[in-house]
Formats: sequence, C-alpha cells, structure tokens
Amino acid sequence: MRSLAKKNRQLIYLGLTATLGFSLNLAAQAPSAPAILNSAVFHHPVIDTRGMVVTQNSIATKVGAQILAKGGNAVDAAVATGFALAVALPRAGNIGGGGFMLIHLAETNETIAIDYREKAPAAAHRDVYLDDAGNVIPNDSRFTHRAAGVPGTVAGLHHALINYGTMGWDDVIAPAIALAEAGIIVSTDLAKNLARAKRRLARNPASAKKFYKGEEGNYEVGEVFRQPDLAATLARIATNGPQEFYAGRTAELIVAEMAANNGLISMDDLNNYQVVERAPVRGTYRGHEVVSMPPPSSGGVHIIQMLNMLEGFDLNAAGFGSALNIHRFAEVMKYAYADRSKHLGDPDFYHVPQDWLMDKQYAKILAANISDDTATPSKSILPGEPGAYESPDTTHYSIMDSMGNAVANTYTLNFSYGSGITVPGTGMLINNEMDDFSAKPGVPNAYGLLGADANAIEAHKRPLSSMTPTIVFKEGAPWLVTGSPGGSRIISIVLQQIINVVDFGMNSADAAARPRMHHQWEPDRLQLDPGFSPDSIHLLETMGHDVQLSTRAWGSVQNVMSQDGRFFGGADPRAADAAALGPDGLECLNNAVACSLP
Ligand code: GLY
Repeated sequence: MRSLAKKNRQLIYLGLTATLGFSLNLAAQAPSAPAILNSAVFHHPVIDTRGMVVTQNSIATKVGAQILAKGGNAVDAAVATGFALAVALPRAGNIGGGGFMLIHLAETNETIAIDYREKAPAAAHRDVYLDDAGNVIPNDSRFTHRAAGVPGTVAGLHHALINYGTMGWDDVIAPAIALAEAGIIVSTDLAKNLARAKRRLARNPASAKKFYKGEEGNYEVGEVFRQPDLAATLARIATNGPQEFYAGRTAELIVAEMAANNGLISMDDLNNYQVVERAPVRGTYRGHEVVSMPPPSSGGVHIIQMLNMLEGFDLNAAGFGSALNIHRFAEVMKYAYADRSKHLGDPDFYHVPQDWLMDKQYAKILAANISDDTATPSKSILPGEPGAYESPDTTHYSIMDSMGNAVANTYTLNFSYGSGITVPGTGMLINNEMDDFSAKPGVPNAYGLLGADANAIEAHKRPLSSMTPTIVFKEGAPWLVTGSPGGSRIISIVLQQIINVVDFGMNSADAAARPRMHHQWEPDRLQLDPGFSPDSIHLLETMGHDVQLSTRAWGSVQNVMSQDGRFFGGADPRAADAAALGPDGLECLNNAVACSLP
C-alpha cells in the first residue's frame, strides 16, 4: 500500500494525472478547498508548494519549472517557457508569431496585459487579398508569404522580462538553445502531427528540410529532432537582444525571403514593431473577479459579457452536461459572437464599445431573450455566412510562483505551423496571422468568423484575435489561471473553465478534462465534444439546436489554481504531451526517494 502511494506521487509529478484513475483522497488534508481537491472525481491536479507551470508540452513545462526552482519568478519562467515551446512544440510555439501575456504582480497588486500580437505590414490595405473583380483570392491570406503579419513574440517576451522578470535575457533563452542544438526526442504526438502536416509543409523547401529527413522520410517516435538553424537564431537573439530579430541578421533573412516571394513585410516594418501594454478588461462573476485580455483580443470582452448573461441562471442546479445548461451556453454564445462580428477590432484603429458590451444591464437585456426550451435561430439575431476550417494550433500556458505572481500566456502562428513557410537560414516558421483580419465583409475567415469594418485590414493594424489568457481572482488573490488554443473556440473553452470551477466546484484538472460545447452564432450549429449523454443531445435537438458531434476534441486548456499556499496544475488530457510540474515535483523527478506530496 505504501509503495503504491509513493508510486502514485511520482506519476503525479510526471504530469500524468489527467489519465490517472485512482484517488489520493487529498480532500481530507484540505477541507477548506472543495473547489480544488475533491476525492470524488477522476481527474486530479498536480500539486506543489513552490509554484506551478502547465503547458501543452512536457519538455517546455520542465524548462519553466527549472526556472522557478532556480528562484526565477513567474515571468522569468513564462519567457523561458515561451522560447522552449518554440523548439519543442513547433506547430504553435514560435518566435515568428505573436500573442498576449497577462501578468499579475503580487508586490504591486497590478495586472498587466502585454499585447505582442502581429501587426499588418505597411504594404497591407483593405483589399490586399482581393482580385480585380473584388473576390477573395483563395488561400492568399493563409499559405503564402503575403499571409504573414509582422511577428511580435521576441519583442513581447523581451518586454515582459525586462519590465517584470528578474533573470538575464540570455539565461532564459539558454534552455531553448540547448534543446534546439541537442535535439528533442520525438514523441508520438510530434511524429503523428508532422506526418499529417507533410503535404503542406513539404511544399516549402526550407520547411521540408527542417521537418523531414529528405529521402529517409519522416521522423519516427524516439528519434532525435535537431533544429540547428533555430539554435543559431536563438543564440544570436540571446547575444544581441531583440534588435537581432527586428534589425539584425535575422531581420535581413526575413526581409530577403519576403522580397523574393512577394511577401509584404519590409525592414521598416520589423524596425518599427512595437509591443503595447494595455489595461486588462475586468468583470465579476458570482463574487469572483475575472481579469482578461482586452482588444485586439475579443476573448476577454466576450467572456465577461457571457458570464454577465449566465449569472442570472442557476447553472449548478441544472447540473454539468445537462441539456438545459448546454442550451443556455449556446444561446449566450450566439449573442456574444454576433456582437464580436460587428464591434471588435484593434482599439488603436477602431472604437470598440467594450464598456457597453461588458455592462451587466446590457447582458440582462440579452439574457431576457433566452427561453429555457427553444433555440433562437442565429439568423434572427444577425445575418451571417457559414465557415469551414478550423485550426487548433495556438498554444497556451499558465504559471504561478510562490510569491503570488501569475502569468497567463497565449501565443500563436495562427494555423498549425502557421503559413507552413520556414524562413531559410533561421529555422523559424512564419505566421499567417493576416487571415485573422476580415478580408472582405461577409466572407468568413478560416475559423468561420465574420467581420466588418472594425476588423478590416489596414497598414500597421493588429488582426482581431480570440486568444483569451485569463486570471480569476478570489478574495483579491489569483485563484485560477487559464487559457487555451482552439481558434474561435478559445472563447467558449475559457468560459467553460470559469463555469466548471465556480459553478460546479471542479478542480483544475477535472475542469480541463470535461467535455465541452461550442456555438459561435454563425454557422448556426451547436458543436459538442465526445462525452455528452445521448439524452442531453436528444433534448437539445428537440429544442431546435442543430447538434454536431465533433469527431475530435478541441482545445488544450492549461489551468493552475492556487489556494492555501499550494498550487494545483491541471493539464488538458486532450493534448498528448501536456504536463503540469512545479519545483517540488522537479526535485521529486530528480530524486525519487525524497519525493513526497506537499
Ligand atoms: N489566430 C487565432 C486567434 O488569434 O484568434
């Protein structure tokens, strides 16, 4: 019995809790923490006393935990993790993309939103992806050099570190350089994902060279995948600072590749890229404060709008997974995504009426339209067009440290492997974020999302995003740090994390694991993860919902919760390589004999 208990602990520290089927009955040790520890559930969080790192990739998680163990704060760990993911999770981790970082600083009790989203190059304009007849040129904003926005990741990570971190720039990049140089062991997930992406990636000679073995074909599970060009690029960035990326050798390589292939990004665009610090959006939900990313993310505004609408319903009484709750979620999502299509865009270019959208009174008016038994047709809310394709490959990570700091970071290349184009000599994939703009009003983007003037293309503008890094506060302290990839589904996924922990008292792992639903107004379709009951599905159909059962599960939520001086990591079991780990767990991994639960 004793040795089994010890084994359980080791497995937990390996971040495998999402698949563990036994309970450690930890509730007895923390009677005041029912939302976090509950012996009656199947999914248990990874526990630590000195902080927690949860990412979609166990190699990157370990890098972040090592930084915390060395005394770095959550921001140091977040920057090191961001660079490590660029190596270990090449389909979404990046230096050629952009994203959003939400930082809570315990010392000053402030929360900062760092916007390092890509920007439209100066040569971009409203009609840049239209042909002479005014029609959208298929795939021009997706799989070409013209699809790339000016990347923000290197500038964003540097901004976070020098303003809010404690460690040296080269110290936090060093682990990523080592991983790229020495190589990573190819996991089942990476091998399968690269094989699946081959048709697209192999079209680009530099991507073919980077991701495949020439005549020998694909990387197999267990082989070593080295990225020497990326290691050299990262080493130059470590030595020369972010100016290497925006004005140095790396910039020259990017601009040469763009010039040779009709791309839009110029040296001026790179020289002029700027990170923006913005005031986060704030709302309340059943006594908790919800702090999230402001525009050009649409996520924060609409999470708060939907929580405002849902506050009037007793979700707990209806029960998790009930047809009634799924119906309510679908209805509030229709209103929110309809508003998104019209009102959301880059606030530096367009007045986003965010206070009105997040107003509790406005939510009450919308919620009053929701009946308990009939689906409202999307067409009666606002007209729109259906969409077709969705990529899951943004990535999110959540980190907390023992000082009370918290970081929620979501960053992306847009699609899986971005545009699929590797800039020769850099080992770096370039994003296709320009597709997040509205290429033409009424024509959906790759996520089926509609847009209008607010998100029309303009030089230097940032495309509207769904990325929603979020921190929920309880009694003034960070309680849940969450976020996910999933394209347009990010917003609904993050919403359901907040509801799972607040309304249903789930722990961070259980909240991440449970099946999820999604509705985005247009197309008028209710999408369900596998795992909902046939009874609920039948009831939803009788209410008038067009139910579509997903053949795959969407998103990759990475949650950290904190209570009573302990940290609870919940990695989404949908992501095969996802893992949670803290400094105690790292020690435990390094020295199994000394391993003990906090
Ligand atoms: N590229 C997906 C998003 O930012 O929403």
